[in-house]
Amino acid sequence: MRIPLIAGNWKMNTTVGEAVELVNEICQGLGGVVGVDKVVCPPFISLAAVKELLKESSVRLGAQNLYFEEKGAYTGEISPLMVADLCEFVIIGHSERRQYFDESGEIVNKKLRAVLKVGLKPILCIGEKLEENEVGRTEEVVTEQLRSSLDGIDCSGAMIIAYEPIWAIGTGKAATGRQANETIGLIRGKIAKLYSEEIAREVRILYGGSVTADNIAEFVEQFEIDGALVGGASLKAGQFISMVKQTQEIFYPTNPPTKDLVEW
Ligand code: PGA
Repeated sequence: MRIPLIAGNWKMNTTVGEAVELVNEICQGLGGVVGVDKVVCPPFISLAAVKELLKESSVRLGAQNLYFEEKGAYTGEISPLMVADLCEFVIIGHSERRQYFDESGEIVNKKLRAVLKVGLKPILCIGEKLEENEVGRTEEVVTEQLRSSLDGIDCSGAMIIAYEPIWAIGTGKAATGRQANETIGLIRGKIAKLYSEEIAREVRILYGGSVTADNIAEFVEQFEIDGALVGGASLKAGQFISMVKQTQEIFYPTNPPTKDLVEW
């Protein structure tokens, strides 16, 4: 069984003080909620402070990006080793990085290799633009993104993929549960072809794009969807807590687990 995962991508929001406040509220609200992996991804500058606060918590830490070189003269960049020192997860290839920072499939591939080398768990983002969606090119686009991102990479169950249609990110116009389920099923099929049925069954695939406490259920109740990557709504502790709790109720309708399940 794939353990559901709800990840909050805080993007370029929160000062260190605000991040500390937010994570404290989240931890208080999620104390006893187990069986769902909960990940927060604050800005780099808050990672160390947030890590301290997560010591006794089941909430886990992720970064939003990194650079693929190990170290050296790359002013302003953060290396995989630096991230691995603080975090367990890292978001790779977010559409905002592809769009505003010209991250190509090749760069995403280099980053993924670097991430796996240091033992971080990548959350690889893929998704089509509105105009691609409208002309029925979704399958072609996500297939190509998968192919270029994963080229030469030994994929295992540690890989997490987030399907984030670009037209749904930050727009308030989420995909429907059924649409997301269909594309995620298709992505799982591609993973099976690229690797194996077994790996495709293990890889967690999230939906992202305007997910809130009001619509999370529509996504996580779908067969193929293993959780969500949440932007805006993850900045409100109450929303994040509610999304995790709803996911727990949907995944374990009768017997919620009493302790966290075995992790990858
Ligand atoms: P959103 O962002 O939830 O604000 O749409 C999602 C994401 O970019 O990961």
